[in-house]
Amino acid sequence: MTDLSTAQHLTVVEHPMVQHKLSIMRDKNTSTAKFRQLLREISMLLAYEVTRHLPMTTQQIETPMCPMDAPVLKGRKLALVSILRAGNGLLDGILELIPSARVGFVGLYRDPETLKPVQYYCKLPSEMSERVVIVVDPMLATGNSLAKAIDLLKEAGARKIIFLCLLAAPEGVQRMKEAHPDVPVITAALDERLNDHGYIVPGLGDAGDRLYGTK
Ligand code: URA
Repeated sequence: MTDLSTAQHLTVVEHPMVQHKLSIMRDKNTSTAKFRQLLREISMLLAYEVTRHLPMTTQQIETPMCPMDAPVLKGRKLALVSILRAGNGLLDGILELIPSARVGFVGLYRDPETLKPVQYYCKLPSEMSERVVIVVDPMLATGNSLAKAIDLLKEAGARKIIFLCLLAAPEGVQRMKEAHPDVPVITAALDERLNDHGYIVPGLGDAGDRLYGTK
């Protein structure tokens, strides 16, 4: 299975195509349709990075010239888990690259009294313990919901987990480092900070609202 121990805890994908698309997404004048299209495109590019450490084996094939041991992915047990609702915006692009991946969903809301994340939905593929699990959510803000979602996945047996987001706040990265140091975080940008309402600054606003045109 994936050797995630070789992956560093935080990876910022600095590829020019990713950064260019992200800048357009941050612009408040970018339309919902454009934002959605860019998120799909950027998620394909990020999927390339998130699959970098997948284990390889070789398979005997014959080219028109000769037989060869050709490199192929070892095992195909992959699961994507979307944190509702904004995580769904990252799914389609990744599925384009990994069409056979199984898909799960986790929904959490913040209890208004305790301010703690509470699960309201969880549907996961079978055999989570045998899969590389890629968790997707565009924004890593406080990290509280994500830490809870990862708790749920670990309770379901998941052992090899990678988290993919678009923007991360230093506070969220720190929270994840403390709660789940075994889960690598891959992001397109590490922003400055959170504001008093828990929004990432400079950020891009509410990812779900920008994606679905709600307010
Ligand atoms: N969730 C969002 O959608 N945006 C933020 O800035 C923080 C959390």
